[in-house]
Amino acid sequence: MSVMRSVVTGVGAYLPANIVTNDDLAKIVDTSDAWIRERTGIVQRHKVAEGEATSDLAVAAARQALERAGRTPADLDLIIVATTTGDLTFPATAAIVQRKLGAPVLIAFDVQAVCSGFVYALSVADGFVARGMARCALVIGAESMTKLMDYTDRGTCVLFGDGAGAVILEPSEQPGTTADRGLLGFALRCDGTKQDLLYVDGGPSTTGTVGHLRMAGQQVFRHAVVNIAEGVEAAAADAGIEVASVDWFIPHQANLRILKGVAHRLGIDEAKVICTVDRHANTSAASIPLAMAEAVADGRIQPGQLLLLEAMGGGLTWGACVLRL
Ligand code: ACO
Repeated sequence: MSVMRSVVTGVGAYLPANIVTNDDLAKIVDTSDAWIRERTGIVQRHKVAEGEATSDLAVAAARQALERAGRTPADLDLIIVATTTGDLTFPATAAIVQRKLGAPVLIAFDVQAVCSGFVYALSVADGFVARGMARCALVIGAESMTKLMDYTDRGTCVLFGDGAGAVILEPSEQPGTTADRGLLGFALRCDGTKQDLLYVDGGPSTTGTVGHLRMAGQQVFRHAVVNIAEGVEAAAADAGIEVASVDWFIPHQANLRILKGVAHRLGIDEAKVICTVDRHANTSAASIPLAMAEAVADGRIQPGQLLLLEAMGGGLTWGACVLRL
């Protein structure tokens, strides 16, 4: 029986020009390049310029994804932006992206699942495509995480960076086997009882401020390895594949030790892990599409290969997606 699959036809990315090194941060907070590298694997991160908004990053990534898909903004009928650092409380950043791209009137909204946002957004877009409500969907992960940093808290301000990644999804009727192209399986999770481990201490209906990111790093770390492994196994079961059979593992880029720990726990060869955390740091919902775009552009990821995406973030949320390019 044939099924309608959402196939990734283009991938794009954008990083702000401004680079902040560990040594730059050591000038404003009590830290060192050696500590940050050893504990996180991070060497540098990108930071938005004055006047550069999350929608600007999103639009740049979107234009590249559209070009690589051979599409124009006029072809779009759905835009979903996964972000926790939107331009304004409202409208949705997706609506701002629609305006800036000059796309026609279409369906546009944001998904807020913090670092898991891109995986959540892919699954939402997949539903629209499967229902025939979208024939050319733009899914973006875009963040200006540096705007949420408390630059007196060395435990968090060294971990995050800014950027955006985007994919174009288009419907394709496929035989309905694990050899199909497209999004093949998902697992999405949220445990709100763990809110206090990772959150922003501001918001429109509480403090009326934007707030700063707060994190109990060690506890998040412990949950990350266990939760991610469970989510990945569930997504692989949904897709009907073995985790070890994937060609590439594209984890959310939070910490090199988490990436390696999860790969080890899942029996995934380290050579299959796409890693950008050293140069991008944690860009929340943008980290997976940024990593994917880099590995597609440099030719590591080839059409037809099986990819495993996973993320975990504030909520706590976590999830995974299996797709064949
Ligand atoms: N520079 C120097 N020392 C530091 C720094 C720093 N930047 N940050 C913390 N320290 C110190 C601490 O104060 C502590 O000192 P003390 O022993 O004198 O009290 C010591 O280093 C050890 O601190 P820990 O927090 O135990 O360090 P740990 O090895 O756990 O590393 C880290 C901290 C990197 C934050 C780690 O716990 C981590 O990566 N956690 C997970 C983060 C994550 O994955 N988040 C995912 C989602 S993010 C999202 O969803 C938005």
